[in-house]
Amino acid sequence: MTDTNLVEIADAKGLFAPEVIWVHHWTPSLFSFRVTRPQSFRFASGEFIMIGLPNADGRPLMRAYSIASPSWEDHLEFFSVKVPDGALTSRLQHLEVGDRILLGRKPTGTLVVDALQPGERLIMVGTGTGLAPFLSVLRDPATHERFDHIVVSHTVRQQEELAYREFLEDEIRNDEIFGELLRDRFVYYPTVTRGDFHRKGRITDRIREGLFRQDLGLTIEARQTSRFMICGSIAFNKEMVEILTGWGLEEGTQSNPGHFVVERAFVG
Ligand code: A2P
Repeated sequence: MTDTNLVEIADAKGLFAPEVIWVHHWTPSLFSFRVTRPQSFRFASGEFIMIGLPNADGRPLMRAYSIASPSWEDHLEFFSVKVPDGALTSRLQHLEVGDRILLGRKPTGTLVVDALQPGERLIMVGTGTGLAPFLSVLRDPATHERFDHIVVSHTVRQQEELAYREFLEDEIRNDEIFGELLRDRFVYYPTVTRGDFHRKGRITDRIREGLFRQDLGLTIEARQTSRFMICGSIAFNKEMVEILTGWGLEEGTQSNPGHFVVERAFVG
């Protein structure tokens, strides 16, 4: 497929055809990439969009991807698994700078701060590539206007899969825009379930056992003043919703803001 063909297909289908400007491989099964942002493309931090490539027959093969960059950034970043026999990711993983992808026009999603009632802290809990939307929300000024404290929890199987760890541990604290704002107000809380790490176990278990709360120095009452964003596998989301509803918390929507919002982590 040449880029000319891809642009023609995008035009015919009402899609964008942005260019890849950066690719980073974290592990043999995880990578991130950035594309140029079409001028008219607007989204709210935390939303997802359809991206893809044309099939051999020219039809677009599209999957939902959370946007990992904040809404003010001039590029769009995505964080993806590489599934060897995955229809799309088996091809996306070979992207190189200068290639083009297909990009939908209608971002949407539930992980937006507008769907949450005001609270003291925003706790974002994700597994695997479910981290992506939180990287966006974390760097949106609206998040900091609404919440005094922000927590990003990321659970993966092996330590190497803690993509963006350096960014969340160090770089963001020295960031020109967010460094000052986040330094004493942001906690990055990684956990690893199957390998060596200083903090082991599923986040769901750590929450149930009270370890998460203890590590953060929170009282039980802090549940009621915390707001949550959840993004991971179906089983993980279900468990988190059970925990939060068990505390009496309610899911929110933009028209009816609540205490938590949930989105599936999309796997290509
Ligand atoms: P575990 O290793 O105990 O299965 P996956 O790679 O399968 O998507 O999982 C990503 C991470 O999410 C893993 O660390 C996995 O832990 C964890 N996980 C999977 N299912 C759940 C669940 N229902 N509740 C909490 N964590 C989960």
